[in-house]
Amino acid sequence: MSNQHLAHHRAKWKSHIGFLFAAVGSAIGLGNIWRFPYLCYKNGGGAFLIPYFVALFVVGISLMILEIGIGHKMRGSAPASFASISRKWEWLGWWQVIFIMFGIMCYYSVIIGWCINYFVYSFNLSWGQDTGNFFFNDFLQASSVLASKNPFELGTIVMPIFLSLAVVWFLCWLVVFKGVQKGLERANKIFMPILFILMAIVVFWSVRLPGAGEGISIYLTPDFERLKSPRVWLDAFGQIFFSLSLGFGIMTAYASYLPPKSQITRDSFIIGLVNCIFSVFAGFGVFAVLGYMAHTTGQPFSEIVAESIGLAFIVYPKVISMMPHFGNLFGVLFFGALVIAGLSSAVSIVEAFTSAGIDKFHHKRGSLVSTLCVTGFLGSIIFCMQGSFLWIDIVDHFIMQYGLIIAGFFECILIGWVYGAEKLRMHINKHSVAKTYRIWDFFICWVIPLFLGLSIVQGLITELKAPYGGYSWLAIVLIGRDWLLYTLFAGIIVAGHEWRSDPRERMLE
Ligand code: PFF
Repeated sequence: MSNQHLAHHRAKWKSHIGFLFAAVGSAIGLGNIWRFPYLCYKNGGGAFLIPYFVALFVVGISLMILEIGIGHKMRGSAPASFASISRKWEWLGWWQVIFIMFGIMCYYSVIIGWCINYFVYSFNLSWGQDTGNFFFNDFLQASSVLASKNPFELGTIVMPIFLSLAVVWFLCWLVVFKGVQKGLERANKIFMPILFILMAIVVFWSVRLPGAGEGISIYLTPDFERLKSPRVWLDAFGQIFFSLSLGFGIMTAYASYLPPKSQITRDSFIIGLVNCIFSVFAGFGVFAVLGYMAHTTGQPFSEIVAESIGLAFIVYPKVISMMPHFGNLFGVLFFGALVIAGLSSAVSIVEAFTSAGIDKFHHKRGSLVSTLCVTGFLGSIIFCMQGSFLWIDIVDHFIMQYGLIIAGFFECILIGWVYGAEKLRMHINKHSVAKTYRIWDFFICWVIPLFLGLSIVQGLITELKAPYGGYSWLAIVLIGRDWLLYTLFAGIIVAGHEWRSDPRERMLE
């Protein structure tokens, strides 16, 4: 098939709203419901909203415009788009998609699997009274490994997690296999409204619980002193990256299916704002629930707020068991919302890789998605063993602290300096009604790379002082650092292969 022919036949969204639902579906994920409220509490309550929204407007929306803009202009996945700019930069696109597929997706799918299990457990509150013990000992079966803190003691596969993992990969396969319109668009058009309804019910239910007001006032009482700490700002920027699914080539792949006449600037604002408003809204629910728990047990608030994983799988089950009426229904709605939020993000990861494989090797979608999902599933097995909890912790730390930020940094250098921020802005403005202003060039060329560069240096300084999380250096190097390096090597190798046809032929005028 000629390339002109391929470009002409490129998959397309059926409707603009379909694209928006899919992009918002990718952005809203587990991170919005469990990670954001915790970060908010840890970093000065309501005051955290300041760095968070600064990060959204300075870095988040600017990069969203960049990723959507480049996918729209080059009509290709991240590797195809970057190769169209310069073959020397193709590795970056491959690194991004390999990295999310075999880094993030392998453990993200396992956590969605946990949510599926907890969704089922909610029906008869199987976690009993001691939810912490249930989570670590009965569910993860990780007690011995957690005590030794040695991630190389992997133990055996935990069956319920393994089975739910298979369900997650099967669902992802099904959606991506069916293609852009019949798979991604249709699934997100169903997922998103259900997610919004479930979340609305959970939040309104939570704020009516006794003691909810105290929780919410802690959530919203700002401690401006905390804003002086660089850590707070780093957390805000990291969260915006992860939450908006930036730096992974996802938005680029999704934008490549847009028609020429598109609203790139406006859509970037919509996706960014909807995602962040959703987080803030979910925060009300989470803090109301924590307030209820403090009120009922008489425990101080600071003892209740757990790290993100603990919040969803230890604190929530406890609260659900304490509810006098319909606790199990509450659990079903909450864990159901988590499963849907997670799945709509997971399919976007698989699609980013699939679209890259189709662009470069002209593979058939069906066989590519099947191979990819089977490989991904096998790769995820390492995260559903008794000792995997520690692996998740280490890999997540490196991906959050470095992976995304390094990818975002290089993206800005490539577009800002090699391709030209102004050139891309001209393209965006030619096709959209709402304009992107000149200041965007300055953000892409200077402000964002400078900030991301500083974050990387600051992170490295802390990293080198002591191994993260009290693990051994060996574990940090082999699991954390090497995860970044091997995916990079793989990216460079794939980028070295010849293109079946010139990626630049797809480009829009
Ligand atoms: N944005 C998703 C969340 O907030 O949970 C997470 C995510 C999705 C991360 C897709 C990475 C990704 F490629």
